[in-house]
Amino acid sequence: MTNVPADRPMRSGPRSNARSTLASIGFAIIALSALGIGAYAIIGYTARPLGAGVHPEMRAAYEAHPVGILTHIFCSSLAIILGPVQFIPSIRRRWPLAHRWMGRVYLGVGVLIGGLAALYISPFAFGGIVSTVGFATLSIAWLYTGARAFASARSRDFAAHRRWMIRNFSLTLAAVTIRLGLGLGFATGLSFEIVYPVLTWLCWIPNLVLAEWIIRREGHDPRRASPTA
Ligand code: HEM
Repeated sequence: MTNVPADRPMRSGPRSNARSTLASIGFAIIALSALGIGAYAIIGYTARPLGAGVHPEMRAAYEAHPVGILTHIFCSSLAIILGPVQFIPSIRRRWPLAHRWMGRVYLGVGVLIGGLAALYISPFAFGGIVSTVGFATLSIAWLYTGARAFASARSRDFAAHRRWMIRNFSLTLAAVTIRLGLGLGFATGLSFEIVYPVLTWLCWIPNLVLAEWIIRREGHDPRRASPTA
């Protein structure tokens, strides 16, 4: 995850203008890749037989647990599609009610149901115990950061809400980074059996580190002293 759009106009000057342009480009890339993975998941698992494009062992696991995997896929897809919209400041300002309702769907359906379903299917993940623990830890972190984001919004601590949502969405983006990692793995000729279990950890730990960096950077930015809802 990279920078998210600012709540207020950037300070003028060539350096801050360049930073603002870079942040907007970064955000657009993230939003498009999130949308792409959401579309892949919804279309791929509606239009094709269950597990059509995945490793035969994964397909067998999906066929044995169709409710768990399909609940996970369709609910989590909502999170990855709605997530970027929630970070657009003009939408939050102009349509606060829409922001609240999309937030409820993101957290209540996407993260809560999608995350519980992910926890349920983690023991059947490809790659044995390494993948199981990797995905289960990610599920718990996703649920925990989602719960904190919800609680801080309820108590109207919007600065904390923003921080927890940045962390939470960085984890949602694991669905993007795992596929980027798989692509990189294929390109370098490494076998799926080796790459996949490693990626069940590497698809989210760097995202979280980057999220912390963004949060710290915002903390030192006077323009972010009082973030809005
Ligand atoms: C962030 C927390 C997430 C966790 C812990 C998680 C966990 C899992 C697990 C354990 C599997 C089964 C993998 C296997 O068989 O080896 C899986 C598959 C899948 N997940 Fe997630 N997932 C998460 C987020 C998402 C999101 C946000 C999406 C949205 C598109 C998504 C879409 C899918 C899809 C489409 C599959 C089927 C495999 C494929 O077709 O590539 N997941 N997930």
